[in-house]
Amino acid sequence: MEIEAAIREKVKDVEAVIYDYMPEDVGLQKTVIDAMHYTMQAGGKRIRPLLMQEVYRLLGGSDKVVEPFMAAMEMIHTYSLIHDDLPALDNDDFRRGRKTAHIVYGEAMAILAGDSLLNYAYETAVKAFDMIQASQEKKGIEDLKRELASRKNVEYALQILAAKPGIYGMIGGQTADVELTGTRLTKEQLAYIYENKTGALIEASMMIGAVLAGADNGIIEKIRKTAYNVGMAFQIQDDILDETASFEELGKPIHSDEKNEKVTFVTLYGIKEAEKEVERLSEEAITIIRELKGDSSFLIDIIGYLIHRKN
Ligand code: IPE
Ligand code: IPE
Ligand code: MG
Ligand code: MG
Ligand code: MG
Repeated sequence: MEIEAAIREKVKDVEAVIYDYMPEDVGLQKTVIDAMHYTMQAGGKRIRPLLMQEVYRLLGGSDKVVEPFMAAMEMIHTYSLIHDDLPALDNDDFRRGRKTAHIVYGEAMAILAGDSLLNYAYETAVKAFDMIQASQEKKGIEDLKRELASRKNVEYALQILAAKPGIYGMIGGQTADVELTGTRLTKEQLAYIYENKTGALIEASMMIGAVLAGADNGIIEKIRKTAYNVGMAFQIQDDILDETASFEELGKPIHSDEKNEKVTFVTLYGIKEAEKEVERLSEEAITIIRELKGDSSFLIDIIGYLIHRKN
């Protein structure tokens, strides 16, 4: 309980950062901006920016440069939800405790709001460059070296932010999820879908935290492996909750997978096995995190909280 309260506190700060970077709803395009805000402000666990921030801190980061990336990641995630709920995909009417964007704003505006969040994510993330911009004052060689290193980190972080939501990441997973619906999935196909539709953005979040903190490739790879496990566990838990949670708890329709005849980890192996797998994957993630230097207790708490989450 104490841990949940601590996470809630942190999420408030994360949310303030996200809202700060959202656009003002003015102009002739106001409707689409309203629709962006509508789904963004409905709440959500904010787990991706939270994980990004915690990895960044764990690995020694202390600047604000991570903040535009936190906001950008939540924008991309929220776009993926708006589109995932569309009639052409999962056709769901509720999200984050509210009617979905296409129900309230119509399909055209929901598609555009998703597009806008995706695009605005990159408009937001590139603001990180302004934060490390060379100032006019005279600098020493060490200052210039540090500035160059920060610039390289932001460039690398942008590459990850560009690739992981795409065809070799989230969209790839969503494509297979949609196209293979109703077929008997192999273990490999199921793993591909989970690694990508859900794992990719969680990997991107944690990797970007590491990259911006200036971690070396060995550490970044350890973080990626941790995130892989967290991502797989997260999607299996999502499948479990689709069967076991209430609509009030989830804020989105229950039995959506059954309605859409989705083959999930739960339909293949049953709830008990699924729960065991969530624990196994999370333990593996925690084991890797423990090997890192620094105080990882809060990050471990977050991963532990995710195992037993109810929404
Ligand atoms: C839902 O993500 C979609 C999946 C990848 C399972 P979240 O469970 O993180 O949704 P919010 O952001 O808390 O609403
Ligand atoms: C969605 O998986 C993953 C996304 C990329 C949005 P689901 O379709 O299971 O997510 P929910 O249950 O609708 O949140
Ligand atoms: Mg879906
Ligand atoms: Mg869905
Ligand atoms: Mg689901």
